[in-house]
Amino acid sequence: MLSGPGIAGLLLTVLLFGLLCPKLANSENILAVFSYTFGSSYLLITPFLRNLVQRGHQITLISAVTIMPHIEGVHHIRVPKLDMLMKILLELEFDTEIPKWTEAQFLSEYFYNCSKFVLEDPGVQELLHNASAKYSLIILEASHNDALYGFSQHFNAPLVGIAAYGSSWNIDFQVGNSAPSVYEPISALGYTAGFSLMEKWHNLIFITEERLVERFIYLPRQIDLYKQHFPGATTSIHDLRRRFSLILINQHFTMGRVRSNVPNIVEVAGMHLDEKPYPLDAELKKILNEAKHGVIYFSMGLQLLETWLPPGMRATMSEAFAQLKQQVIWKSDHPEMVNQSRNVFARTWFPQRAILNHPNVKLFITHAGLLGLIESVHYAVPLLCIPLFYDQFQNTQANGEVGRGQASGL
Ligand SMILES: *[C@@H]1O[C@H](CO)[C@@H](O)[C@H](O)[C@H]1NC(C)=O
Ligand SMILES: *[C@@H]1O[C@H](CO)[C@@H](O)[C@H](O)[C@H]1NC(C)=O
Ligand SMILES: *[C@@H]1O[C@H](CO)[C@@H](O)[C@H](O)[C@H]1NC(C)=O
Repeated sequence: MLSGPGIAGLLLTVLLFGLLCPKLANSENILAVFSYTFGSSYLLITPFLRNLVQRGHQITLISAVTIMPHIEGVHHIRVPKLDMLMKILLELEFDTEIPKWTEAQFLSEYFYNCSKFVLEDPGVQELLHNASAKYSLIILEASHNDALYGFSQHFNAPLVGIAAYGSSWNIDFQVGNSAPSVYEPISALGYTAGFSLMEKWHNLIFITEERLVERFIYLPRQIDLYKQHFPGATTSIHDLRRRFSLILINQHFTMGRVRSNVPNIVEVAGMHLDEKPYPLDAELKKILNEAKHGVIYFSMGLQLLETWLPPGMRATMSEAFAQLKQQVIWKSDHPEMVNQSRNVFARTWFPQRAILNHPNVKLFITHAGLLGLIESVHYAVPLLCIPLFYDQFQNTQANGEVGRGQASGL
């Protein structure tokens, strides 16, 4: 039996240990679930998770195999079936003229697949059936994966969302912020800036349509999944959707219009810029340093988008570039198909941030993905935008009056 002074001594030791090891004292068990297979969001998510690990948290991460890099110290559950979804997207004949309801049906199936493949994965099933697995926080993409909110119910832990593509009315809805909705649709195709009263009406109708799509096409399938995989759940998905303790949105008030936020929405654009940029190699450094007339950097993002460029666009760009004095650095999935005339240098991948940070870079031709825009604002590089998909039109509009790429062919 311990004597009184013995207990006091023990308490003191525990207390000292706690004070001397704040990392251990604050260490939480966190479950992170990322089901999307769009590569760019991982440029934001990876440094975020790495930071949590450095602060001493225990992280279990569920994601696809190829997209998410290995993070030291993270227990990773890889879901191979998610990788298949990327292939389906890549093989898609993309057409911006498809009707909204058809697009919604396709996307709803895509997101249904994302949630389904995660929940059916043997590794995830093992986790759900492991009675000693305990988490105090669930971090996931903030929208379009509602069935996965079931993890919050299952582990009785609050939800934290990451909106890597910025916010929109459905994300605001989850934290009870209805104010900016007229300005922030999910898909910006056919949407206007909403300056006049008529435009506001138009936007209201547009967003009402999106609400109907969500209610009748997208949500029912996620609810089915939720009921199937969390049969004992006492909370409905509608209630879970309002249980976000925090949503980090990848946008910033200096880029685009002012918006009203609620306290549990935090703008984090630029968060990924804390990571050291991947350095330039000797060949690139030489090309950048020696470009007397400046450099144009052209990239359509990590994957996928180049295949959706309008037919003939690659040749048109090649011809146009060949007539310029400037050095062109072209990120292309098929560098061998790009005319590498004297001033064009193409590769499948470039250290984008290090390039944008070089003083000789005068222009960035981009698909207007959010991360690329944030980086070019950070390094003060002018933009020429060729938006093709989803949020890219809105990003383009928010950052200046730029024409639609597919119409102009440059
Ligand atoms: C969803 O997954 C099924 C296989 O389970 C596949 O046949 C279908 O093409 C996928 N749809 C989308 C949009 O990813
Ligand atoms: C169950 O979870 C505990 C705690 O996270 C872990 O140590 C253990 O290895 C897990 N068991 C299985 C079979 O995965
Ligand atoms: C590449 O560009 C150069 C310079 O404009 C031109 O002379 C040549 O014919 C082009 N080659 C191809 C294969 O298009």
